[in-house]
Amino acid sequence: MTDVLAGSRAVLEQSWRRSDGFCPPNTRVYPHQWLWDSCFHAIAWNALGDERALVELTSCFDSQLRNGFVPHMRYLFPNSDRGPSQTRSSYLQPPIYAHAAAMIARSGRVVPEPLIDRIEAALEWLWRERRHESGLLYIVHPWESGADDSPRWDSWVGLADYDRGRFREYDAHLREQTQFDEDAIAVWSAEFVAAPAAFNAFAAHAALELAELRSGGAWAARAADLAAAMDNLLWDDGDALWRDQAIVGGGPSVAIPTLDGVFGALVTADADRASRALSQLGDPERFATPYGLAYLPPSEPAFDPDAYWRGPAWPQLNYLAYVATERHGDLALSAEIARISKAGALASEFAEFWNPLTGAGRGAIPQGWGALAAVYR
Ligand code: GLC
Repeated sequence: MTDVLAGSRAVLEQSWRRSDGFCPPNTRVYPHQWLWDSCFHAIAWNALGDERALVELTSCFDSQLRNGFVPHMRYLFPNSDRGPSQTRSSYLQPPIYAHAAAMIARSGRVVPEPLIDRIEAALEWLWRERRHESGLLYIVHPWESGADDSPRWDSWVGLADYDRGRFREYDAHLREQTQFDEDAIAVWSAEFVAAPAAFNAFAAHAALELAELRSGGAWAARAADLAAAMDNLLWDDGDALWRDQAIVGGGPSVAIPTLDGVFGALVTADADRASRALSQLGDPERFATPYGLAYLPPSEPAFDPDAYWRGPAWPQLNYLAYVATERHGDLALSAEIARISKAGALASEFAEFWNPLTGAGRGAIPQGWGALAAVYR
């Protein structure tokens, strides 16, 4: 336990930038600010009882535009990989900021009203600009899901066998043909538009968390409406998981059973569905592995325990799965997720992601969100 807490603290301390108020995920591999990473850092700082929780969460909004949009990256030096702007990305990332703020509030700290206003403006933007007529929210590039090379994108990329290089080429190609508005925000794509189960679940959960911070109001209803749209349109009764929906392009890969399919349990009103999805987190035939939750079941043809988004365990997803099990009161399962997540963090030396069978660290080591291990007590 001491190792977990001391290790988590060390990971964040070593990349902390006092002048900017945040941690780059890894100073060498990821030398900018990433939105959902910083939200997870805030959650980890909060678990460590450190007031930088609020500082890092607030820093996420330094790059918010007047219309509410929060970019998925803020650059520390000029960059144009992710859209026309040299200072920030043109894309978004899953909205974890409301949950981070709610966690800070639950631990007894006061979340300033202006910060809650900025969170609300960010969600307003999402609901206004990225809601499909079906009621689901959509993304226009795989980067926006946070799960860059997920097998769920395979039908778009058109690969029989996973190849990281081809994925990178496809990402660059999609970035070239994304439609950007006059503020250099990505608004549409003629080739890739998707309503991912996980993204929608995180957004609905954000709405629920904001409703708690704001004591009810419109956000509770928005959360319920989005959860209902997910239940109506994305639930796959055979797999007992929520699948993605392709809006432009895509194909059968939207239904590949990845961990994304369980996060509907964060928001659904259907306790039976939640329990059928969540029980797969404790099932060794599905996502339960000795070191954290595998991103896809080892029996899946696409499973590769070492490859980026093709099977390894991810600490931020373990954490959100843990939150979902706690919501449903499955304490035995949440304790087991906590145990294997800590085991993975320690074995991998707080890696970006790790082999779920052996705990061997993969990707950047250490990575800021490895510090989420500090949450589990
Ligand atoms: C990778 C991940 C993304 C994350 C970023 C920084 O691109 O796919 O989710 O935000 O790294 O850690």
